Amino acid sequence: MAIKIKIKEVSIEEVVKVNTTIIEFDSPYQKDHFEERYKDREKLIIVAYIDDKPAGYIVGYDKFSDGSFYCWMAGVNPSFRSKGVLKTLMDYEDKWAKEKGYKKIRIKTRNNRREMLFYLVKYGFFFTEVTQHPNIKDNRILLEKELYVKK
Ligand SMILES: CC(C)(COP(=O)(O)OP(=O)(O)OC[C@H]1O[C@@H](n2cnc3c(N)ncnc32)[C@H](O)[C@@H]1OP(=O)(O)O)[C@@H](O)C(=O)NCCC(=O)NCCS
Repeated sequence: MAIKIKIKEVSIEEVVKVNTTIIEFDSPYQKDHFEERYKDREKLIIVAYIDDKPAGYIVGYDKFSDGSFYCWMAGVNPSFRSKGVLKTLMDYEDKWAKEKGYKKIRIKTRNNRREMLFYLVKYGFFFTEVTQHPNIKDNRILLEKELYVKK
């Protein structure tokens, strides 16, 4: 039977808890840091649940005021990976952003976030920019996806 993944729009406190489970994030952001970023912007804060256990999250906000929605932070607890949690969160974000009238999703990731890059390439994102860092693995990769694909 397929795993049931439930998405809920939640308070930032719930995300802060899930965020501590993401082993790749050395010093997970606290509540104030999140709030400072999306202050006065339209935002989306969602957590995915499997069997009522928080499995992963996305925090996005209207960073650029140009009709794009910025997917700022995403992570899935290692115990729940490769089960479609990220995909389900992203699908929810796409639908929500479309309903709000956004035309694109933008995202920035790092060269060493390989699973994320796999997702982004497979599910329709295109590279727009690379910001160089001394270690190429830290290069920041900017990508975007149109929410309305032109024929
Ligand atoms: C990236 C991350 C969020 C993926 O979460 P996940 O719930 O395991 O991903 P899903 O199961 O929904 O997989 C979605 C797609 O991602 C890609 N993917 C995920 N894990 C992968 C892996 N181990 N190898 C290759 N591709 C992978 C695949 O394209 C997959 O689609 P498919 O199953 O149709 O092939 C998770 O690995 C994570 O939290 N990593 C650390 C934090 C991070 O990198 N965050 C992103 C910062 S921008």
